[in-house]
Amino acid sequence: MNFKKIAVIGSGQMGSGIAQVLASHSADVFLFDISGDQLKKAKAGIEKSLSKLQEKGRLQEEPSKVMERIQLIDQMEGVASAELAIEAATENFAIKCEIFKKLDQILPSSSILASNTSSISITKLAAITNRPEKFVGVHFMNPVPIMKLVELISGQLTSSDTMTRMEALVAAIDKTGTKSADYPGFVVNRILMPMINEAIFALYEGVGCKEAIDTGMKLGTNHPMGPLELADFIGLDTCLAIMEVLHEGLGDSKYRACPLLKNYVAAGLLGRKSGRGFYEYPQK
Ligand SMILES: NC(=O)c1ccc[n+]([C@@H]2O[C@H](COP(=O)([O-])OP(=O)(O)OC[C@H]3O[C@@H](n4cnc5c(N)ncnc54)[C@H](O)[C@@H]3O)[C@@H](O)[C@H]2O)c1
Repeated sequence: MNFKKIAVIGSGQMGSGIAQVLASHSADVFLFDISGDQLKKAKAGIEKSLSKLQEKGRLQEEPSKVMERIQLIDQMEGVASAELAIEAATENFAIKCEIFKKLDQILPSSSILASNTSSISITKLAAITNRPEKFVGVHFMNPVPIMKLVELISGQLTSSDTMTRMEALVAAIDKTGTKSADYPGFVVNRILMPMINEAIFALYEGVGCKEAIDTGMKLGTNHPMGPLELADFIGLDTCLAIMEVLHEGLGDSKYRACPLLKNYVAAGLLGRKSGRGFYEYPQK
């Protein structure tokens, strides 16, 4: 592992998964969130995930040893000694700008700043900081402990040294990296999200019921999850935010978000994380 101390900003489903994977590969992780409740949930979620991996014989050491390397942080100043910060907060440009302004102030000038954004311009986020050459997109897939891919995105001014160091990190955590150019949605969400949005249009227009849409795509095209089920898994707020970035950034009406998706988000039906989206998820 080429980074010893890594900050993860945001402890939602992605941040907690990233923290777990980094700590499982010997990094000391500072996990920060503005919500104390979310930090507690993240800790419990990581413990549960590590226990499951241990049961399956897929963990090299005791879960408690991995947990010892994850420090929960409730003030951003607490991450000041990190050599790398990976931001995984809500998919919102203003929130991410605020985070990177602060990280740029408190971290040593040698530290790398990375965003796990699904769609927002890496170049624009880098421009908020005084170190655009040390700024990079590192797009993990959900759930992070299981999914192999990490999409690496070079901003306009990202240096080759920064990219090389991130490629080494991806290899050190046993993932496969691919490189994408810095355009809205990069590669994975440029392709995936319009498909999910189209599935929501199909539901909205009554082309099929949700079961027909999901079963059709699972059995008909060999997708492991149906698109509506997957949208619930990703988070409908995140799906909407990504569609809005694609629509605004590419200026083509084919990327307009389905009105039904907008209504679900407005109603607080965010998918798994809120207990209800296209399907219902009893909260444990
Ligand atoms: N959900 C997915 O499948 C997926 C996949 C790849 C990338 N992403 C990206 O990862 C990021 C996080 O997504 P998620 O699904 O984990 O969302 P989430 O809603 O589960 O978690 C977001 C977290 O950010 C925290 N947060 C908000 N403002 C903050 C701030 N100022 N400082 C620190 N923490 C703050 C929230 O409290 C919350 O815990 C987004 O950019 C998203 O686009 C998501």
